[in-house]
Amino acid sequence: MAGDGEAPVLVVDRLVKRFPVRKGLLRRTVAQVHAVEDVSFMLARGETLGLVGESGCGKSTTGRTLMRLIEPTAGSIAIAGRAVDGLGRTALRAMRRDIQMIFQDPYASLNPRLSVLQSVTEPLAIHEPALSRDERRERAGALLERVGLARDCLDRYPHQFSGGQRQRLCIARALSLKPRIIIADEPVSALDVSIRAQVLDLMQELQRDLGLAYVFISHDMAVIERMSHRVAVMYLGQIVELGSADSVLRRPAHPYTRRLLASVPIPDPALRGSRPAIEAREIPSPVRKLGDPPVVAPLVEIAPGHFAQAAA
Ligand SMILES: Nc1ncnc2c1ncn2[C@@H]1O[C@H](COP(=O)(O)OP(=O)(O)OP(=O)(O)O)[C@@H](O)[C@H]1O
Ligand SMILES: [Mg+2]
Repeated sequence: MAGDGEAPVLVVDRLVKRFPVRKGLLRRTVAQVHAVEDVSFMLARGETLGLVGESGCGKSTTGRTLMRLIEPTAGSIAIAGRAVDGLGRTALRAMRRDIQMIFQDPYASLNPRLSVLQSVTEPLAIHEPALSRDERRERAGALLERVGLARDCLDRYPHQFSGGQRQRLCIARALSLKPRIIIADEPVSALDVSIRAQVLDLMQELQRDLGLAYVFISHDMAVIERMSHRVAVMYLGQIVELGSADSVLRRPAHPYTRRLLASVPIPDPALRGSRPAIEAREIPSPVRKLGDPPVVAPLVEIAPGHFAQAAA
């Protein structure tokens, strides 16, 4: 794996995010959504950590909290050795250069009224306002080529592009500030199956060339397996298993990981058994009464670098 022996680019320590559930005229908080509970992990330069789990387990909330799009309830985040906690506006803005996000829906992520040039250079306009028009155009052109699009697309508008091309534009925009880390939240889930592989290939190529670290969020095990060096399995806001992609996917230890893997459709009918899929109603709710936080079982190292919660 890239980055062995180097200081991690991202250290997440005991991250917690809870949302209040309010009720009544006074909007009193009556309960809390425990979206992220005690999540810790590290990310090395050039490494991809796959974050996988069922809908509602807290993957996006984890990503958004890392980006500081939402404030964590507790816990700490360090990027390239610098704590992100309690940063003022200016420092937070500087930190935003290091960590960028790409989202599932490349249609919603681009403002239809902005040209490609404007979209791709939006972050540059904020962070490097001194750049001249020509410099900005030059940077945008280079970014387009970097993601496999032609420079002469700069004056076009998002509706003139396919879904895959739009996701390339979003990637170009994310790269404009030369980040170290990209949080990719289901980046290919909204794309046609036929073009998913191309976007994933591009992301891997960029990782190799630029040393990018990815937190790659997906509910699709095949995509996770393809992209991840290490995998973290989330369930009800907690990481229940964490280790190299190979050991977590081939030798899953936690019952939830096993069930998740068992519910993956198997292409070969001969291998398909009557394996139980996880039903949405089986997953308990992350909403809990006030003063009743869930028990978070510690992760235990069951093999070198492979951690799992002891099943309750
Ligand atoms: N702003 C919010 N206010 C209240 N609850 C929220 C908010 N955002 C997320 N949640 C809740 O937090 C939990 C985790 O949601 P999250 O979106 O992180 O899950 P996810 O793993 O990304 O799911 P999916 O696979 O469907 O994208 C869910 O119960 C969700 O309803
Ligand atoms: Mg999500």
